[in-house]
Formats: sequence, structure tokens, C-alpha cells
Amino acid sequence: MPETLLKDISLKSFNTFGIDVKASQFAEVDSVGSLIAILKEFPENNTLILGGGSNMLLTGDVEGLVLHINLHGISEISRTEEHVNINVAAGENWHELVRWCIDHDFGGIENLSLIPGNAGTAPIQNIGAYGTELKDVFVSCSAIERSTGKEYTFSHEDCKFGYRDSIFKGSAKDRFIITSIELRLTHKNHRLNTGYGAIEAELANRGITNPGIRDISDAVIAIRQSKLPDPAKLGNSGSFFKNPVIPVKDFKKIQEQYTEIPSYPVTKDEVKVPAGWLIEQCGFKGKRFGDAGVHEKQALVLVNHGNATGKEILQLAEKIRTTVLEKFNISIQPEVNII
Ligand code: FAD
Ligand code: EPU
Repeated sequence: MPETLLKDISLKSFNTFGIDVKASQFAEVDSVGSLIAILKEFPENNTLILGGGSNMLLTGDVEGLVLHINLHGISEISRTEEHVNINVAAGENWHELVRWCIDHDFGGIENLSLIPGNAGTAPIQNIGAYGTELKDVFVSCSAIERSTGKEYTFSHEDCKFGYRDSIFKGSAKDRFIITSIELRLTHKNHRLNTGYGAIEAELANRGITNPGIRDISDAVIAIRQSKLPDPAKLGNSGSFFKNPVIPVKDFKKIQEQYTEIPSYPVTKDEVKVPAGWLIEQCGFKGKRFGDAGVHEKQALVLVNHGNATGKEILQLAEKIRTTVLEKFNISIQPEVNII
């Protein structure tokens, strides 16, 4: 038995939606050795891996073991003329890692400032924001196979990254526990990515004409704080749905009726449509159904006003999904992991 096996504990403070469900068993894991030992003791495949709890909706009590990833450590592992490779243990907080990189003048993840959660979870949905995705700096990750306790290394290619997608949401889903990630960053000649309109406007507002990585991080933080709710004050999991990617020919048909519909090119045959716009058009923005609601500044973010259950949030999500489907004939899919 792990020394710190807890029983019947509330997970409310472990998920950013603030859903109050219980875990029948709960253990912290602070070394790869103890992780392997625990997996041997709990061979059933119903263990829930918990990182920062910022991308999950808990819809009921968890009957199996909840394993909270608490692996720590950041280290430089190699350096070339322009680049530095770092290894980051899975339990490091992502945003603290970003600020650590900025303090060390390591560039590449400043656009990903203020994303909650653990560094080790970042590859799972290939976190992205403001024109950058994890895949742009990712080298590899180490992971333990749950059924055997064997350690594997996943290269960039192995991970099969896509928009909010990777092998860990596909054929490797629920089979591995990521224990660390390796990133390749710049230590000089940073390639700044200010292309995302809102960043340029924010820098101009601040009178910054020659930005560095810290300026970009600060601008991204300000933009995010202006529209995304702080989970410490209002429970949420960021974007509840992914932005749908649809064929250009379908988009053109919708555009005939909704001339102002926004879109972003993906390939010559496909465009991405902001789900927040679709949901707002369906009248859900700022609406509240009991304690389950839609954020007043960002319709893609579902919120818990206090005591919503996971099932109530899920019912609202389903109502939104079917309304968008009926109105636009577009099927939107959850980004959040429903558990
Ligand atoms: P958790 O919620 O703990 O876990 C998510 C899933 O991964 C679960 O299925 C869990 O079982 C599994 N898991 C967790 N750790 C491991 C591990 N080590 N090995 C294997 N499986 C594991 N995401 C973006 O991409 N871009 C954004 O801009 C963004 N903004 C957000 C803003 C807010 C306010 C919030 C609340 C969330 C936002 N997110 C965003 C979503 C979220 O922060 C990311 O998906 C993040 O990577 C989740 O990390 P976590 O550790 O909290 O994951
Ligand atoms: N929009 C509306 N109404 C709304 C919200 C959005 O009309 O209520 C439209 C506007 O046209 C706006 C556009 O949608 O210009 C895009 O909105 P925003 O810039 O807020 O970005 P998003 O597409 O809603 C995505 C990611 C976010 C990421 C931001 C910034 C997804 C599912 N979400 O949101 O990621 O931070 O871009 O890059 O791709 C997350 O994954 O949890 C997350 C927060």
C-alpha cells in the first residue's frame, strides 16, 4: 500500500470546475519508482490520473484510485549555439514553467502563458494559444505503460500531434502516464510570434515597439485575464468545446445566411469556425441554468457558479451541442475530458 493512501476524499479543490465529488482512494505520487510500485498494487485499469484538474469534468464519484501526479524538477540537459533543451517533470505547473523560462531568457513558450495545469499533461491535447502550440517546442516525453510499468519514450513523430490532439487521445488513450517532457527552446535569437492580432494590439497599447519574450508573456496574460474567468473565483475548464473544422463548401452555404460568420483557413478545403461565435449566436452567452452557466465574456467557456454538479454542466453542454447542430448543422465536440 502507498504510505499516503487516503480514502473518501473530496476532489473539489483538485479540479478547476470545482465539482464536489469523492474519490474512494487517493494517492500522491512523487517519484517514478513509487509510481511503478503503485501501478503494481492497483492493476485494475480504472485508476484516474489527475494533473492540475483543469481539463476534466467529473460527473460522479470516482470509484477507483485517483493518482495525483506530483513529480517535480526542471533541468537543462543540453545546449547548442542557439538552443537549449530542458527536461521537465510531469507535475511541474505549466505557467510557472513558462515564467521560469522567461527568467532564464529561454524563448518559445511565452505565448502559452497562463494556461493552467501540469507540464506533463501539455502533450495530451497539444496545448495551444495565441499562435503557438506545444508541438512547436516539443522534443519527446517519457511515459510509464500502465499495464506493465515499463518506461517508454515518445518522440515528436510518435505523438501524432494535431489541433488539441495527440496519440494520447487516440490509440494510446489511458494506456500511459507521462512522467516528464523534453522541450527545445532558444537561448538567443528568439523567434517572437506576435502574428496573433490581439498580441500586436496589446503591445501597441503598452507603447512597446521592440518586444522581448517577457513583454509577449505579459501581453498574453493581460489578454487572457480580460476574457477568461479565473478558476479560483469562478469554476471552469477553459474552452469546453473544440473549434470545429468544416469543409469550405459547407462554410460557404452557412455564410450565405450568416454573412458575418468568422473563420480561419486550415487547408485549401477546410476552415476553422470559432465555436464561441456559434454558441453566442444560439443565445447562450452569459446564460445561467441553476449554477451551471455560460461565461458572459466568452461563450466557449462553461462555468460553475457555485454548486453545479458535473451532470448539470454536462446537460448544459449537450443542450448547447444540439442547438448548434440544429441551427448551423455543425457538430461541436468537447475539448474537456468527461469523467
Ligand atoms: P487534467 O485536467 O488533470 O487532466 C486532463 C486529462 O489528462 C485527464 O484525462 C487526465 O486523466 C489525463 N492526465 C493528466 N496528467 C496525465 C499524465 N501525466 N499522464 C497521462 N495522462 C494524464 N488549454 C489549451 O490548450 N489552451 C488554452 O489556452 C487553455 N486555456 C485554459 C484556460 C483556463 C481558465 C482553463 C481552466 C483551462 C485552459 N486550458 C487550455 C485547458 C487545460 O489547461 C489544459 O488542457 C492542460 O494541459 C490540462 O492540464 P491538467 O494537468 O490540469 O490536466
Ligand atoms: N467569439 C464570439 N463570441 C464569444 C467568443 C468568441 O463571437 O463569446 C468569436 C470572435 O469572433 C473571436 C473568435 O471567436 O474573435 C475567437 O475567440 P478567442 O480569440 O477568444 O479564441 P477561441 O477560438 O474562443 C481559442 C482556444 C483557447 C485559446 C484561444 C487563444 C480552442 C478550443 N480554444 O479560443 O484555448 O486560449 O483560442 O489562442 O481552440 C482552451 O483550449 O481551453 C482555451 C482557452
